[in-house]
Amino acid sequence: MCGIIGYIGNKEARKILLNGLSRLEYRGYDSAGIAVLEDKKLNIIKSIGRISNLELKVKNIKLASKIGIGHTRWATHGVPSDNNSHPHYNKDKTIAVVHNGIIENYQTLKADLISKGYIFNSETDSEVIAHLLDFNLEEDFLKTIKKTIDCLEGSYALGIINSKYPDTLYATRYDGPLLIGKGINESFIASDASAIIEYTKEVAYLNNKEIAVIKDNNITIYDSNLNIIKPHFETLSWSIDEASKMGYKHFMLKEILEQPDIINKTLNSHLKNDLPNIEFNFDLKKISKIYIVACGTAYHAGLNVKHMIEKLLSINTIVEVASEFRYNEPLVDKNTLVIIISQSGETADTLAALRLSKELGAKVISIVNVVASSIARESNQVIYTWAGPEIAVASTKAFTTQLIVLYLLIIQMSLKTNKLTKKDAIELINELKSIPTKINNILDQKEDIKKIAHKTYKEKDVYFIGRGIDYYASLEASLKLKEISYIHADAYAAGELKHGSIALIKDNTLIIALCTNEYILPKMISNIKEVITRGAKTFIIANEDIEIGDYKIIIPETHNFFKTILSIIPLQLYAYYTADHLGCDVDKPKNLAKSVTVE
Ligand code: M6R
Repeated sequence: MCGIIGYIGNKEARKILLNGLSRLEYRGYDSAGIAVLEDKKLNIIKSIGRISNLELKVKNIKLASKIGIGHTRWATHGVPSDNNSHPHYNKDKTIAVVHNGIIENYQTLKADLISKGYIFNSETDSEVIAHLLDFNLEEDFLKTIKKTIDCLEGSYALGIINSKYPDTLYATRYDGPLLIGKGINESFIASDASAIIEYTKEVAYLNNKEIAVIKDNNITIYDSNLNIIKPHFETLSWSIDEASKMGYKHFMLKEILEQPDIINKTLNSHLKNDLPNIEFNFDLKKISKIYIVACGTAYHAGLNVKHMIEKLLSINTIVEVASEFRYNEPLVDKNTLVIIISQSGETADTLAALRLSKELGAKVISIVNVVASSIARESNQVIYTWAGPEIAVASTKAFTTQLIVLYLLIIQMSLKTNKLTKKDAIELINELKSIPTKINNILDQKEDIKKIAHKTYKEKDVYFIGRGIDYYASLEASLKLKEISYIHADAYAAGELKHGSIALIKDNTLIIALCTNEYILPKMISNIKEVITRGAKTFIIANEDIEIGDYKIIIPETHNFFKTILSIIPLQLYAYYTADHLGCDVDKPKNLAKSVTVE
C-alpha cells in the first residue's frame, strides 16, 4: 500500500526522499512523488510508474532543499496517474500533503469545498486534505492541522509542509502507521521503518490523533487536545542488512533461504529451560472456544494449527478470514480466545477484527512480526515472530515463524491446562528444534526444485491437492504460486476432487500433491491415480518415494502437527523459481501491496 517518507535536516532532501521511497517500493505502488521546500517555494514532482521514472524527472532539477515529503501511491480512489499521485497541494501551492489511508467522508467534504470555490486536480480522496488545510488556515499552523483532522473520517497518516514555515515538518495519524525517526541534526517521518533504517534506528511511534511538529531534531509531539507530550523513542533491532538483498537476486529468495536461522532465533526467543516462555493474563481454563482471525498467508498459518489445537486442547476452534469475521456477527464472548495473526500488524481488516473481539469481551492474543505496529499496540498480549523485515510481498519467513509461535502457544496452553505432560511437551519442543536442520535438508534440493519449475513454468492452471494438514499447506502453496507467477492455481481437499473439480483435469494438467500425512497416504495415492488416469502430470511432495508421479521431492519426516513447516518450503521455492523463470517482478507482484492498510 502507500508509503510515506519525510525529511528535515542539513542534507539534500531529494536524495533522502528518493532513497526512502525506493525502500518503500516493496509495499506495492503505482506512482510516486515528492515535494520539497526551497526559497520558501514548494517544488512538487510526481510520476506514474516506478520510482525510476520519478528519478528521471527529478534528476535535472536544481534542488538544494533540506526539507521535503515523499509518497508512493497504491491507487484506491482514482486510476494511477500523475495527477492522482501525491503530494497534493492547496490552491496557492503553499501547502503540500502526503496521505496514507482512506478518507471515508471525502465526497461530502469535496462537495462542500467545491461549493466554496475550491478546484480539484485529482480524483483522490486525499486531495480534500490539502484544500481543507487551506480553508482552515490560522496563524498557528498546528491549530490548522488539528481543525482539519477533526473534520476527517476514515484513516490517515499525513506528512505536511507549508512554505510559510520552511523549517518545519508536520505529521499526524489516525489508524495508519507513522513513525518519527531522530538522527543527529536531522529528523524523519515514515510509514515504516525500512524507509529510514539507513539513517537512524531511534524511532517514536505516533498514537492516533497526535501531531508532530519537527524542526531539525527538535521534535514536539502534541496530543489530540494540543497538550505537549513526551515522545517515547526506542531503538530498532533491525539492521540495514536485513532490509537489503545482500547479493541475492530477490528478497523472496533471500527470505526463503534464511528460514532455518530465523526459525532458530524465533524458537530460542520464546523458550526458557526448554519450555515455552509464554504467560497468560487470563484464566485459560475458562476458555470454551477459540477463533483464529487473519488474512492471506497469516490465515493459512491459523488453518494449519486448527487440528493441533483441537487434538491437544479439545477446544472447538474456528479459523476465519478477518474481512468475513468482522461482518459476520461472530459468536464471541468473554470465554472466547481470539488469536490474531499478522506479519505487518497493520492489515486493516485484521485490526478491525481485533477491535471487535475486544469490544465483545474476548481474550485476545496477537502474533505479530512488526514491533509496535497498530495490532501489536492495541493487543492485550502480543507474541512477536521475530522474523526481521519481510520485504518481498509474498510472505515466506513470516509464515513459518507464525507457525513456530502458534506451535509454542498451543504447547504452553496445553501444559498450563494439564492436557499435556512436561515430558510430552519437551518431546515436541525437541522436534521443533530439529526443524531448522530439516529445512536445510530441503533447501539443499533447491536445484532439483528449480529444474521442476523450469519444466513446468508454462502451465496455465495448476492444482494443489492434499488431505488433512496437507490440504491446508496446499492452500498456502497455491497462494504463493498465483500471487507471484500469475499462473492460475487452486487448492483442493483431495477427497473433494470427485465432487466436481476433477472435471477441470485434462491431458497434462499439472497436479501438485502433498502426501506427508502417513495416516491417510493410501487414500492420497488413490486420488493421485484418479488424476493420472485422466491425463494429469503430477508433482509429489512426500516423506518417502511413493513410486508414482512425474516429479518428486522427498522431504524429512516430522511430527504430524508440524508437517506444514517442512512441506511448504519446496513449494515456496517452486513458486519462486517459476515466477523468476517467467520474468515476473517476484518481489513486487502486480496489483499487490505488502501491507493492506485499507479495507
Ligand atoms: O501483514 P499481514 O500478515 O496481516 O498480511 C496478510 C496478507 O495480506 C498477506 O499474508 C498476503 O496474503 C501475502 N501477500 C501473502 O504472501
